[in-house]
Amino acid sequence: MKFQLTATDPRSWARAGTLQTDHGEIQTPIFMPVGTAGSVKAIHQRELEHDIQAQIILGNTYHLYLRPGTEILEKAGGLHKFNGWNKPILTDSGGYQVYSLAENRKIVEEGVTFKSHIDGSKHHFTPESVMDIQRTIGADIIMAFDECTPYPCEYRYAKSSMGLTHQWLKRCVERIRTTEPKYGYEQVLFPIVQGSVFKDLREESATFIASQDQPGNAIGGLSVGEPHEDMYAMTSLVCSILPKEKPRYLMGVGTPENILECIALGIDMFDCVLPTRNARNGMLFTTEGIINIRNEKWKSDFSPIDAALGGYASTFYSRAYLRHLVINKEILGAQIASIHNLTFYLWLVKEARQQIIAGTFASWKEMMVKKVSRRL
Ligand code: GUN
Repeated sequence: MKFQLTATDPRSWARAGTLQTDHGEIQTPIFMPVGTAGSVKAIHQRELEHDIQAQIILGNTYHLYLRPGTEILEKAGGLHKFNGWNKPILTDSGGYQVYSLAENRKIVEEGVTFKSHIDGSKHHFTPESVMDIQRTIGADIIMAFDECTPYPCEYRYAKSSMGLTHQWLKRCVERIRTTEPKYGYEQVLFPIVQGSVFKDLREESATFIASQDQPGNAIGGLSVGEPHEDMYAMTSLVCSILPKEKPRYLMGVGTPENILECIALGIDMFDCVLPTRNARNGMLFTTEGIINIRNEKWKSDFSPIDAALGGYASTFYSRAYLRHLVINKEILGAQIASIHNLTFYLWLVKEARQQIIAGTFASWKEMMVKKVSRRL
């Protein structure tokens, strides 16, 4: 995998780059739609590629391991073949889902034992098994097995949890080093910085993660309920330590405003369930601000969802019609709203990239943050 920086913004830490994988190129900064169980909810692969213009999607080890399971994925020839998405895929390691979804989890140095949220069956993850599962899924980018600390989190717990994440990382690196890609194309490992909201821990973690010299690095344990100022302070600190020449991925972030602020701090990759999950509840992100489409005020607004954004779903359907669909829990409502929100998120990062290349990102960002966080 190769990462090349195209431009850096003169008035912030923002960068524009290109990440080359065996499944194609990713132009950064980028937003990665979340496809937990191998599908971005309510969206066809064709829409993802042509309407939304996604360049990479995310899958979840935890979900894919439970269903359909590695045996089926291996038989299919990997997730790309199984779901027909031929561009890059990144898989999260389960280091988040085990903590947020699974029941009766028990964490020890060796690994984690947990009960499936689906049927209560008992399972065991180790750093090694999680690397093997992600190889079998066929991810282009494999995430290290970590522990994502909750917020708030006591210093002592955050410190020992970070230590565990670092010990696990050494085992992940060794497993990736000593195993072959499953389907002939390159599969790379991204380690994850932890350390909660403690400066000294974040510093120590970023230094350790950087020393592992993997092709890219991620920041975890943020956007878990901490104030935005803490998220920005930790991101800024970690970005100042992680190598400039490698992509930086901020996990689980966030709102359009969070994304713009963190691009300014030097982040290249983002993922979040917000645009798809909130779409299904009628929350729309637009070029003019945030809309709750269920609101009475859109009842007879026959104007397009977002004329300025362009794209099929956002210009063909009216706000009034989408409101009607969402209120009636029509499947089409979830589809249109999800396509619209993801089109907006991909537009936002593409526009940010163009502004970075033009050298105008910082002032554009100030203006845009105000615009996109307004409630209409
Ligand atoms: N998704 C959001 N935050 C995290 C994190 O800290 N770890 C992992 N593995 N996934 C995440």
